[in-house]
Amino acid sequence: MIRFVSFEGGDGTGKTTQIRALESYLRSRGRSSLATREPGGTSLGKLIRKVLLEVGDHEIAPSTELFLYLADRAQHVSEVIRPAIDAGKIVLCDRFTDSTLAYQGYGRGIDVALLRLFNDVADHGVRPDLTFLLDCPVALGLARTNQRQREAAQPREDRFEREKIEFHEKIRAGFLAMARAEPARFRVIDAAQAAEDVARDIQKIVDQEIF
Ligand code: TMP
Repeated sequence: MIRFVSFEGGDGTGKTTQIRALESYLRSRGRSSLATREPGGTSLGKLIRKVLLEVGDHEIAPSTELFLYLADRAQHVSEVIRPAIDAGKIVLCDRFTDSTLAYQGYGRGIDVALLRLFNDVADHGVRPDLTFLLDCPVALGLARTNQRQREAAQPREDRFEREKIEFHEKIRAGFLAMARAEPARFRVIDAAQAAEDVARDIQKIVDQEIF
């Protein structure tokens, strides 16, 4: 039974839009869901998100960054995700453990096997039943985030958007490698398509897997 669905992918792949679309689709089919995200799915997590993403006048060491993401996750699982699953909701989560493997592992170069152990501690054994990997060329994802910045009332580039294109290429390759290694859980979606077409692809899979 599918209770926990994660959405993964690089920056600008449209995860947030797709989670909203799926939430309303599930509602239209009479299923109650909870949309949440990492980092920042709890009030403590919102503080951690600010520390992690705001560009400040200090550098954050890769291991410090890792522990902040894990702290956010530990709180999120115990305060939000597990209670929602126990209450019979389908949880839709914008990023989860695979983002740590992709960004801190493939991106920053921390040993992936070690990260899996840390993830095991932080997720309290709660694992996604299904993971949508929204995949598109890095240049397209970054163009979308730049566009979003231009349209924002208070444009704010985050620490990851400042990274070079090679960093984002490593992350994309990492996500695709993880999807190949775990085909039963991952569904790779072509996120270069228009948002409506991405939503249709996701709904088709949800129709098979959830209904
Ligand atoms: P987003 O919620 O807007 O996608 O931004 C979150 C950023 O944090 C994104 O660039 C990916 C990054 N991230 C990690 O580096 N490791 C993690 O474990 C998670 C959950 C996110």
